[in-house]
Amino acid sequence: MKTPIRVAVTGAAGQIGYSLLFRIASGAMFGPDQPVILQLLEVPVEKAMKALEGVAMELDDCAFPQLKGMVLTDDPRVGFKDANWSLLVGAKPRGPGMERADLLKDNGRIFTGQGQVIDEVAADDARVAVVGNPANTNVMIAASKAKRLTPDRFTAMVRLDQNRAQAQLAKKAGVDLTTVKDIFIYGNHSPTMFPSFTHATIDGKPATEVINDQAWLEGPFLETVGKRGAAIIAARGLSSAASAANALVDHVRDLMTPGAIHSVGVKGATEYGFDPEVWAGVPVRSTTPGSCEIISGYEMDAFSKSKIAATSKELTNERAMVADMLG
Ligand code: NAD
Ligand code: LMR
Repeated sequence: MKTPIRVAVTGAAGQIGYSLLFRIASGAMFGPDQPVILQLLEVPVEKAMKALEGVAMELDDCAFPQLKGMVLTDDPRVGFKDANWSLLVGAKPRGPGMERADLLKDNGRIFTGQGQVIDEVAADDARVAVVGNPANTNVMIAASKAKRLTPDRFTAMVRLDQNRAQAQLAKKAGVDLTTVKDIFIYGNHSPTMFPSFTHATIDGKPATEVINDQAWLEGPFLETVGKRGAAIIAARGLSSAASAANALVDHVRDLMTPGAIHSVGVKGATEYGFDPEVWAGVPVRSTTPGSCEIISGYEMDAFSKSKIAATSKELTNERAMVADMLG
């Protein structure tokens, strides 16, 4: 038997947790032959821990062959102990009328403590993926607390935005979704994000030629992808959960697959104009399992440059807003 991968998941009794844990345990994230141990973290509140017990009962009842153990805890030192992957989902979601950055003061504090504990107790090969909003800035806070783990071990999820953009392009072109490739997200997981349609292809041809509607690409397309989270909150009364869990499965699975090309929030994307200290979505190529390199060389036209400048400015502003939580 392969050595199990220890996967810590925060917010395990929350909405995303309820869609995510079953996918991890079924093998969707690490492969059908890879054993996993789930280390499930919740807040020290009776209702949350009770709900977590219920989720664990359901996981038992699935009889997943590769689920080799579960730890249920409200203690981060236990939850992150020897974790190979820490999936930081647990945080407040926004409600109607809020922007994700409105969550910074409440949620940022969660990531100061967790960054520190992960650095102290997680496995030597630890990797961290942040989903809790605002994800790009929360990951920066967590990474800033680490002394042992280098910044490249920390990523922010922008994959939901990439998946949304891919689906919208396919719908507009009236093609099968799998023919849409190389659609990448630049910048923040916020309405300023830039899904760069210029480099996307459909069936090997430039998406701009196939769709042939620049006004739609620069207007409704960007607007729909950028504000999709708010549209879901308005419709459902709750923020996206199953699609977020699915995106996290894609994010981690592709990071574990050498050669995979996808969008990830990483530090150091200076060649695309981002501040060296922020975590920005950019195209990456996975290298060794868990690691990736930024794909360089995508030429940006004036429109793309202006969009990237706006999302870059927002990331820098968010960094300034949490200056007291860094380091
Ligand atoms: P939820 O309220 O249903 O669940 C969050 C859970 O986290 C709760 O059970 C809560 O008790 C727990 N929690 C809070 N603080 C914790 C801590 N310090 N340690 C462990 N657990 C903790 O929310 P949700 O719908 O699952 O969303 C979770 C987060 O993910 C929100 O911030 C949401 O905005 C964000 N989100 C991000 C994306 C993305 O694409 N990056 C997509 C969807 C949602
Ligand atoms: C999303 O994009 O669906 C999430 O980030 C939730 C939100 O607040 O929009």
